[in-house]
Parts: sequence; C-alpha cells; structure tokens
Amino acid sequence: MKIYVEENYQKLSKKAAYILASQVRLKPDSVLGLATGDTPLGMYRELAAMHQEEDLDFKEVKTFNLDEYYGLEKENPQSYHYYMMENFFKYVNIQEKNIHIPDGQAPDIEEACRRYEQLIRLMGGIDLQVLGIGRNGHIGFNEPDVKFEATTHLVQLDEDTIQANARFFDSIHKVPTQAISMGIKTIMQAKKIVLLASGREKREVIQRALEGKISPELPASVLQLHNDVVVILDREAAGGL
Ligand code: GLP
Repeated sequence: MKIYVEENYQKLSKKAAYILASQVRLKPDSVLGLATGDTPLGMYRELAAMHQEEDLDFKEVKTFNLDEYYGLEKENPQSYHYYMMENFFKYVNIQEKNIHIPDGQAPDIEEACRRYEQLIRLMGGIDLQVLGIGRNGHIGFNEPDVKFEATTHLVQLDEDTIQANARFFDSIHKVPTQAISMGIKTIMQAKKIVLLASGREKREVIQRALEGKISPELPASVLQLHNDVVVILDREAAGGL
C-alpha cells in the first residue's frame, strides 16, 4: 500500500487526477471504476481541465460507478447518475455507451446486479477503481456488517450513512434507505485501487482502515489485502497515522 499525504484538498485532487490521467494515457481504453461523494469532486474538475487543456482523451474509456441510490430516477439531482453527468461526464469526450451506473430503478434488481457484474467481466475487469470512504468505513455502499458481500447487491443503508448524506437532500426523510452497490469482491478484483480521504472527520476511520484489524465491520480494512492500493490523504485525514 502506497500512502501519499498531501498538504491540502487541492493537492490531493491533483495527485488523484494525475494517477487517473496516467492510467488513461497508458491504456486509452481503460476501464475506470468511479466514486461519488464530495471527496472526488476536485479530481473530476482537474480531469475535466486536463481534457480541455491537454487533450486528455476519454473517447475509448469505459466507466463503472460504484453505487446508486435505490428508487431515485436518473434525472433526480440527488441521484449518482445526475452527479456524474453534472460533475464530470458533461465536460469530457466520453461516449454515452461506455458509461455504466447501477440502475436505481431496475424492476428486477437481482437480475440488474447480475448483469452489472457480467458487464464488468465482459469489459475485461476494472483497471483502476477510485474509492472514497464513509465515516463508518463503508466503501461504495458496503456498510459495516458481519460478513463481506461479494458482488453487486441491494443494500440497506446505515443510520450513520443516511445522516451523513442528508446534507444533499431537503430533509433526512428524503434520503433513500436502500442503494445498489458493487460488492467487496467486485472492488477487490480491480487491478489498481485509489482511495481518497480528506478532512478531520475521516481521520479516525482512515487510521482504523489502514492500520487496524481486517474485518467486515470496517469494510475499507479489506483494502489491506489488495496488492496495488494507492491512498491519497490530506494532512487532516492523515493525522492519526
Ligand atoms: C457516500 C458514497 C461513497 C462515498 C462516501 C463518502 O455515501 N456512497 O461512495 O465514498 O459516502 O462520501 P464523501 O466523499 O462525501 O465523504
């Protein structure tokens, strides 16, 4: 595991964008696993700028998002579909057919989850997976549990996650209680993983995830078992290491 501690959020974002851009330059048809939340926003902005200013080419890039709320339409401004379009995809030359985000409205969820997994395999697997981390140690929407869920599945969100994400909604009652998320095996099969964390409120969980016991009760701790993980932190998030 390689850990970079950057001075601030802007530098963290630049470092993450640089790693993703290098991946895309090396393999123009890379399969990228993408994350939402506040943390990767700066990275997406940097990548969009690299596309505008340095011709970073996304034409052949394929993407798979980690997760999506269950029950929200794509057009809902709180959906991760909307987030990805508004914060990243609309600024780069990615082809629509190469974008994959779990369908929060699929009538047959189990079938949709199976197909998502199949499609990832069909594309040759994820070359680089970007991850954020929840305050409770979740990655994607893999919440603390007594066991690791392997593949893409429907999740019951934790109270802590609902509270943390309420800031994006008009009221906490509007936060969906379920989501679709890649599983731990899906994530661990990515060839390379880039984990981002910023700010004081991630300090404790980062320390436990990187140095503590490996347990499904802290899902991010499983990353200790992957052989190509790059962790990019700002000073505040790294304070406990
Ligand atoms: C959300 C997402 C995760 C994200 C995490 C942290 O619930 N499902 O994929 O990594 O919480 O979000 P943030 O970066 O806003 O702290």
